[in-house]
Amino acid sequence: MAGVHRDTLLRWLRSGSVPEPHRDARGWRVFSPRDTAAVVSYAKGIEPTVDDDPGIRRLQGISWDFATAKTGYLTHNLHPYPAKFIPQIPNALIQELSAVGDTVADIFCGSGTTLLEALQLRRHAVGVDANPLAAMISRAKTTPLETPGLEALEAHRDACRRVAASIEPLTNDLFHGDQPFRSAGWRPAPELSDFWFEPHVVEELAELRHLIDGMTGEAERNLCATVFSSIVVAVSKQDSDTRYVRRDKGLAPGDTIRRYQAQLDTAMAAVQELGALIDEEFSCRVLNADVLEAPDTGPIDLVVTSPPYPNAYSYHLYHRSRLAWLGHDPEQFKRKEIGSHRKYSAKGRGRATPETFQQEFRRIFQWLHERLRDGGYACLVIGDSTIRGERLDNASLLADAGATTGLREVARIKRTIAPTRKAFNPRIGRIKDENILILRKR
Ligand SMILES: C[S@@+](CC[C@H](N)C(=O)[O-])C[C@H]1O[C@@H](n2cnc3c(N)ncnc32)[C@H](O)[C@@H]1O
Repeated sequence: MAGVHRDTLLRWLRSGSVPEPHRDARGWRVFSPRDTAAVVSYAKGIEPTVDDDPGIRRLQGISWDFATAKTGYLTHNLHPYPAKFIPQIPNALIQELSAVGDTVADIFCGSGTTLLEALQLRRHAVGVDANPLAAMISRAKTTPLETPGLEALEAHRDACRRVAASIEPLTNDLFHGDQPFRSAGWRPAPELSDFWFEPHVVEELAELRHLIDGMTGEAERNLCATVFSSIVVAVSKQDSDTRYVRRDKGLAPGDTIRRYQAQLDTAMAAVQELGALIDEEFSCRVLNADVLEAPDTGPIDLVVTSPPYPNAYSYHLYHRSRLAWLGHDPEQFKRKEIGSHRKYSAKGRGRATPETFQQEFRRIFQWLHERLRDGGYACLVIGDSTIRGERLDNASLLADAGATTGLREVARIKRTIAPTRKAFNPRIGRIKDENILILRKR
């Protein structure tokens, strides 16, 4: 009908984007002229158009694979984050679709890739993420430190060095009866710390946390907490960030603190470099908030984001040990997390469906429409996912949700993901490509 594929029409009917027609005695849908007109007008509203903005045309001509590009410059590698995008993607979108002095938002900012790119391109940045870990990393990545802050970090590094030096002799010290190092610092409940960490690692992490908590400057403390969090999985018995399998990593006493010191050195060099590059005039705000609760971002000129995919990750699970060591309750974030595998694989009527995802995005786009400037763009980087064996075209789901809220699709660019990058979702194999969906406020 009206050049619309049957599957697309069914999706629109299921999501309520077009009215459901009457059914005949056999249960077949009978489209009246009015129903048909509604489908035609909806199809026209979301039909990709050739935008007259030369920026869009240039973006369509870019080679988006960036297979050999360097991605770890400045503070980008401060902390691992599942499914973070490569900085070249937001960089190109920000350059083409905004101007110096504009405000660029990432409403699912994760580890802050867009925010850092916006700042270094002389734009203001605002980020939103419901994951407390994401907010901490994003702040650390976008806060340049100058002399007083760096001096405080030097003092902290010295304190760590003293602790490290006090651990090693004790392990062979006959007079102290080989007493292992003990910290008076706080640690998470034994269910987590005893199961996932060697006893000596727990003591060293507790001591590091204690030293970090004692720091007075907020920016320095946040940077050190980020460095601390960045080593938690590496020094645990968890196989990797995305694999919950126990494995003995053969860490000796003192290794945990030494690993922290090495990461801290790298982080200090990176934030110092940032300080020399970022103009004080440009600011970054990070809100640790649920985007469905209309956070107060202020006016936005451009959105560049990579939303969570339905059924792909469970960030609250992958970040469980890091959140626990930082004193956060993963349950709070779990309730807010959009797309989490947990919600889509749950049993019973409470289980999330593709419609849940689309409805959530209708609410988000309505909220965004009020903040985005007229003619402003929202760019969403998203691939497909699989729910109970069915492939889900997420870009189309989002385009449909946008169309009902005044954000119209103007371009959809397919990009191949470099084969060296890990699968987005190990359950459905390596995802080979993703879409850059560009919507524009009418
Ligand atoms: C694909 S990741 C973004 C990664 C980011 N582009 C980067 O480079 O690090 C999606 C993010 O959405 C966040 N998220 C999930 N549900 C949310 C919600 N209700 N409100 C705000 N953020 C949410 C997750 O915590 C996660 O950080």
